[in-house]
Amino acid sequence: MPGMDRYAAESRRLQSMSMPFLNEELMKGTPRFRGQDLRDPRLRRSTLDPKAIVFESRLGGGSDGFVWKVRFGDEGPFALKVYWDQVPPHEPGSYYSMQRECQNAAVFQMMEASLDVDPVLVYEQPLGRKEAIENYFSFCEENCYPNLIPNSGKPVALPGAKFISTLPRLTKCYGWLKLRKDLWSSLPDDMQASHEDPNKVKKLMSSHLNCIGVVYELIEDGENDAAAIAELDRFLWQAGFAFTITPNLKDWKSGIMIDHAGIVHVRGYGWNEDDYLKRCVSDMLAKLDDQTNSQGDEPLGAK
Ligand SMILES: Nc1ncnc2c1ncn2[C@@H]1O[C@H](COP(=O)(O)OP(=O)(O)O)[C@@H](O)[C@H]1O
Ligand SMILES: [Mg+2]
Repeated sequence: MPGMDRYAAESRRLQSMSMPFLNEELMKGTPRFRGQDLRDPRLRRSTLDPKAIVFESRLGGGSDGFVWKVRFGDEGPFALKVYWDQVPPHEPGSYYSMQRECQNAAVFQMMEASLDVDPVLVYEQPLGRKEAIENYFSFCEENCYPNLIPNSGKPVALPGAKFISTLPRLTKCYGWLKLRKDLWSSLPDDMQASHEDPNKVKKLMSSHLNCIGVVYELIEDGENDAAAIAELDRFLWQAGFAFTITPNLKDWKSGIMIDHAGIVHVRGYGWNEDDYLKRCVSDMLAKLDDQTNSQGDEPLGAK
């Protein structure tokens, strides 16, 4: 019965939305990466002091939130992203972007911690949900392979498998922090969040909660490099991530992906096998190629 399917899908969505995704622990050192941690990824709290925040400029907004260039005392600059939805959205089928980005960032940090210890053995060409999940959990501490790797020389994988030994270049995440709810009224007009859909701004401004924001490394505009994009795309596939929207060059600067709301880890809400197998970054690379050919030496980063 289609009605029942929709009901079941919505109750699954609500269940996912209610999964906690913030860890109160401060982001100091590397995180734990046991299987249980990958099953329930939670982003640690930033060590930056929200009371020392200085808003320097607006970087822009999108469908998920607004981003500012900020400093914390004399530390920075950073990119601060504050999500329009500070609580799970009501619209059936919609994802909770703050939850998705916090989980993705937590997963990347756990994968990095795992790779710091030993290379990780994965299917080179994972072809569905089952292999994506196996690859994802290859990064957990219980599955570290130190004993299989000879002390000398490079690790050898069987055909169809490969060792991943480094994380590709990703926008670094410095954790989440809580901002006072009266912060917006103290910001000058030219620093206020804006969006073509005023309801998004209203949702954030009228939130009666202290806002949660996520601090990222600030990525400067710069030319996009096809090899770096392809490398990240391959890593995401092998680590079990799917693009939930067609990747677009506007979400990349200097060959680095800056918007992490368009990808989802294999256990996250909105992951599906069709998206996973589509591998649609090639369209974006073709566009990049066209731009390079038609614009000669002009920088592409801001496109
Ligand atoms: N880490 C970052 N460094 C520099 N600019 C950023 C960073 N994150 C976001 N931005 C800028 O802020 C704007 C909105 O960010 P984005 O993450 O795409 O928001 P949304 O998820 O709502 O689409 C974009 O124009 C982007 O260029
Ligand atoms: Mg965006």
